[in-house]
Amino acid sequence: MGVTTVTDVRPTDDADGVLNTLFRSDQGGHEQVVLCQDRATGLKAVIALHSTALGPALGGTRFHAYASDEEAVLDALNLSRGMSYKNALAGLDHGGGKAVIIGDPEQLKTEELLLAYGRFVASLGGRYVTACDVGTYVADMDVVARECRWTTGRSPENGGAGDSSVLTAFGVFQGMRASAQAAWGAPTLRGRRVGVAGVGKVGHHLVAHLVEDGAEVVVTDVRAESVDRIRSKFPQVTAVADTDSLIRADLDVYAPCALGGALNDDTVPALTAKVVCGAANNQLAHPGVEKDLADRGILYAPDYVVNAGGVIQVADELHGFDFDRAKAKATKIFDTTVAIFERAAKDGVPPAVAADRLAEQRIAEARQA
Ligand SMILES: NC(=O)c1ccc[n+]([C@@H]2O[C@H](COP(=O)([O-])OP(=O)(O)OC[C@H]3O[C@@H](n4cnc5c(N)ncnc54)[C@H](O)[C@@H]3O)[C@@H](O)[C@H]2O)c1
Repeated sequence: MGVTTVTDVRPTDDADGVLNTLFRSDQGGHEQVVLCQDRATGLKAVIALHSTALGPALGGTRFHAYASDEEAVLDALNLSRGMSYKNALAGLDHGGGKAVIIGDPEQLKTEELLLAYGRFVASLGGRYVTACDVGTYVADMDVVARECRWTTGRSPENGGAGDSSVLTAFGVFQGMRASAQAAWGAPTLRGRRVGVAGVGKVGHHLVAHLVEDGAEVVVTDVRAESVDRIRSKFPQVTAVADTDSLIRADLDVYAPCALGGALNDDTVPALTAKVVCGAANNQLAHPGVEKDLADRGILYAPDYVVNAGGVIQVADELHGFDFDRAKAKATKIFDTTVAIFERAAKDGVPPAVAADRLAEQRIAEARQA
């Protein structure tokens, strides 16, 4: 095994490819990027540490067949930067990191490869703490943990917290209550019509919170089984055929809980909801959408703020998982969302910009300290 480390990278005029893109980009400023290769198992991985100012970098391991190695590096860079912001606003003493394993997990994933990956993470001596992401699961983290103590997202049998969707949904619900307070003066969804797009692991827990709070819930999902599961549990919940119908329905709140890019040039003009608050990552399809939402008078609760319940849960694993302690921390997503709306109003900027500013402020203060 060999480890190549690029620490404190700086711009150059003649560099080509991904490093040039990184150096010239606003997304730069990463502390460390580690390229890992283990020929025996076919492992190729990138571990990106955006910042350790607040503490060890924390973020999941994505296992994905990228179109190119450069694309994999860029993804690790962008995702790790996003984790710095998410962890900062979640009130965690963790910086941002993310790893990607390059290749099709269906073809490449073996126990030996995951163990080799664990040894690379362990070689960072705790500067990076890993977890699940797209393409990696609790069972995989149990394997990685055999070589590396800085592994979260493990099963309860192995000292982990298991499925993170419970606290993710709880956190989204707190963000939605804060949004309701800002929009209508009371922290409740009672009597509001809420549309949930995607009722998978997070979405179905979110529906349960909404029903309990007295909201009228409308759902959609590409998988009929997911909709059936909701409707058999909550017969009062209605369903529409697709996301397009949902956003055009007469909603008070729209909750994207499926894939990224839900808020784009087509969907924003069509939205009827006054509030958008959901679990999906990277909801804003491109820069500028946050302003389009604000211009239409739609209150957007930034995705990475309200969906931080999952990372709060895995961070808690490092201290011996305690569900109540993690839930208490996820409850604070309400206060954080309120603070973001207040900052947005004070600065005259959309909430997404205010969230970034608050995160950058916390990271900068930690750097100074
Ligand atoms: N699970 C977590 O703890 C967690 C934490 C933070 C963020 N998130 C994000 O929340 C979102 C949902 O995560 P999840 O764990 O519930 O995933 P999931 O795969 O269990 O659920 C997603 C659901 O969306 C449905 N779906 C897919 N495409 C759709 C479409 N075009 N229209 C309607 N429905 C569609 C799927 O059928 C599925 O039921 C993802 O964006 C994820 O990245 C999840």
